[in-house]
Amino acid sequence: MLTGRIGDAPPALAGILRETARIGFTMASEEQVGALLRGLVASKPAGRFLELGTGTGVGAAWMLDGMDARSHLDTVDNDATTSSVARKHLGGDARVTFHLSDAAEYLTRAAGDQYDLVYADAWPGKFSHLDLVLDLIRPGGIYFVDDLLPQPNWPSGHAEKIPLLVADLERRPQFTSVTLAWASGVMMLVKRT
Ligand SMILES: C[S@@+](CC[C@H](N)C(=O)[O-])C[C@H]1O[C@@H](n2cnc3c(N)ncnc32)[C@H](O)[C@@H]1O
Repeated sequence: MLTGRIGDAPPALAGILRETARIGFTMASEEQVGALLRGLVASKPAGRFLELGTGTGVGAAWMLDGMDARSHLDTVDNDATTSSVARKHLGGDARVTFHLSDAAEYLTRAAGDQYDLVYADAWPGKFSHLDLVLDLIRPGGIYFVDDLLPQPNWPSGHAEKIPLLVADLERRPQFTSVTLAWASGVMMLVKRT
């Protein structure tokens, strides 16, 4: 059975996961999501990437593992405790910049910028500020979200928001879209040239 084989994990991941468990952070990305992101960023040499919701750096570790030496990742979170774990384990890599900021404010400041891939893993840029974040995607670039399949940690009322999000993303003619029953459930939009 080939499905689900993802290759070697990034070297930093084990330490990040240990500390993630220690601080009780339960929203870290799954390894299958990370592996898919690693492949996507590897397809874009000298790429500019954005992650909304750093968490403890799990997704960032996978992305950095796929990025070439000329690529750069901006990652944004408003929680100093979780993002300090990411900084501790990944901060020695000059290809990443950590932003301690509200993601909505970051998106507003970034207007006019262009990214090759945005991993939208916080509320702003996913359930709000969609037009703003999709404007940041360069032609040929990718908008990526996960957690679309029911998750045990969802608060009541959250499940109803998913079909609305998917429908909103699917009706945008500037993008091709695909939903995948992979890991927590992912969706990818690619901006047409
Ligand atoms: C699902 S977790 C991110 C997981 C991370 N991407 C990973 O790969 O493990 C969501 C993160 O979004 C952050 N967050 C929530 N609301 C935010 C906001 N308004 N601005 C910035 N970050 C926010 C939380 O602090 C949390 O770390």
